Amino acid sequence: MCGIVGAIAERNIAPVLLESLKKLEYRGYDSAGLATIENKTIVIKKECGKIDEVDQKVNLKDQKGNIGLAHTRWSTCGSVTKENAHPHQDCTKNIAIVHNGIIENHSELRAQLTHKGHTFTSDTDTEVIAHLIEENNQGNIVQAIAKTLKQLEGSYALGIIEADNPHQLIAARKESPLIIGLGEKENFIASDAPAILKQTNKVIYLDNEEIAVLTIDEVEIFDLDGNKKEKEIETIEWDSEKAGKQAYEHFMLKEIHEQSSTIAKTLEQNIEDNIDLKEVKRIIIVACGTSWHAGLVGEFMIEELAKIPVEVEYASEFRYRDPIIEENTLIVPISQSGETADTLAALKEARTKGAKILSIVNVKGSSIERESDAVLYTKAGPEIGVASTKAFTAQLTVLYLLTLHLGKLKNTLPKDQIANRVRDLRKIPLQIEQAIEETQHIKKLAKLFYKKHHALYLGRGINYPIALEGALKLKEVSYIHAEGYPAAEMKHGPIALIDEQMPVIAIATKDDRTYKKVISNIEEVTARGGVVIAIATKGDEEIAKKVDHVIYIPENSYILTPLLATIPLQLFAYYIATLRNHDPDKPKNLAKSVTVE
Ligand code: AGP
Repeated sequence: MCGIVGAIAERNIAPVLLESLKKLEYRGYDSAGLATIENKTIVIKKECGKIDEVDQKVNLKDQKGNIGLAHTRWSTCGSVTKENAHPHQDCTKNIAIVHNGIIENHSELRAQLTHKGHTFTSDTDTEVIAHLIEENNQGNIVQAIAKTLKQLEGSYALGIIEADNPHQLIAARKESPLIIGLGEKENFIASDAPAILKQTNKVIYLDNEEIAVLTIDEVEIFDLDGNKKEKEIETIEWDSEKAGKQAYEHFMLKEIHEQSSTIAKTLEQNIEDNIDLKEVKRIIIVACGTSWHAGLVGEFMIEELAKIPVEVEYASEFRYRDPIIEENTLIVPISQSGETADTLAALKEARTKGAKILSIVNVKGSSIERESDAVLYTKAGPEIGVASTKAFTAQLTVLYLLTLHLGKLKNTLPKDQIANRVRDLRKIPLQIEQAIEETQHIKKLAKLFYKKHHALYLGRGINYPIALEGALKLKEVSYIHAEGYPAAEMKHGPIALIDEQMPVIAIATKDDRTYKKVISNIEEVTARGGVVIAIATKGDEEIAKKVDHVIYIPENSYILTPLLATIPLQLFAYYIATLRNHDPDKPKNLAKSVTVE
């Protein structure tokens, strides 16, 4: 939610900030702005629209100065207008500020500041921070910022520059992510690593209620009482080339294609050394969106093979009830970004009740990682497309590895069975490439269906969450209304919607449990004039006689079919979105990392 970058250097900084900001556009893109200091004066350009549109309108990269801030917005407080775009300033125009987060007490503070004579030009909570710093400033900006931060309730990642002192850039954070990048005679701040990887891979992760003061030569970190803190410098392994789009038209397509290699990387890890799980009697998975769908697949895997009871909770719901957490309950937060506010809050809620936390995250150094007792990493690399694809299949891979490990610990899986199951998992990367070979066929189907207004996704057993995920992908990138349902539930209501205008996408892979039942559900649809696309197992010729269209995926054990059935659904959603002329990487109203409640 909102991306911020800032830099202080010897070179002209606007083009660097602009390039970095584009890497953060997945965090929000309703307006953008850039501030630099030229001759002790802050110059700001900002406008509504995506970063390229804003650059075309106001020529952001032409700004001069070797210190600056930039921001891409996902609006929370105040509508999408030029006035509400960042950076924001105080009355004297001495400071400029960019912000990611939400200040909960902004209305009270605004009233107090207005009473003291401050004049506001926007409806944002961010502008309140700028005026409060001005109010608190007795000549030492760092002290004024520290005092201001103590008065704020809510979350913030902040970049601040001061016209009077163009030799330092100040940053601070609480509950919203912010990293410091360390270069040669230049230093950076950014919401996320991909933004600065081209400049440096040496970073410091700022912690809650820390203030960083950056000059060209050094970075100093303080707590809110002015005490200096020593921080570790870490090296990021992701490379900037991999974070780029390469030859693909969109990140979403690139990331779909990367899945065979990201799964191959993810499945190499060893779960054993992480946390002692012998005593675990119950598992609660907390997550949001696609990560929640991964959790539902994980529930199926763990209960089936490791025989441990699992509940999967929406993190946003979990945190606001009074969940019962008994001794030996393990909490497993799942998050690509590691920054989702609801998941982080659910984790903290569980921790206060004494639970052990084992997180599954993709972004190293993220808040969820740092709040956990142990972490299992999805090695998907930077996921830029707002719609999660490769992170999802990497999450399923980690959940399967965790399942096998728990099965071994609990003696529910004999050694030879584990070896066979690992062998099956190792087939998945190649099989994903085979599933992607159906692309031309999927493109043709997308052409047949892209003008529809609704779609129904059906699945049973372990593929029910994949029906949910397929529907979510279509909704978020194509804006077509889609619902995912357990196939048998259809006759309890949604069957009333079936007609030739409502395509039904049914996951009907061959297995000895649910296949026949799903076929019966498909027949219920076709009997009512419904049009069915089946996701079926290669070699199943029979199903082609029963449905309108089939997309085949390779055969593997039942419990691993979600990793394969997901692929055509991702491609289908992608091609429908592009046929409808939508940018699948930046769906409207969405942001990649939801750091507000
Ligand atoms: C996925 O396509 C979504 N954009 C969204 O549902 C996402 O999975 C959710 O916001 C959770 O994000 P996280 O995995 O970073 O916590």
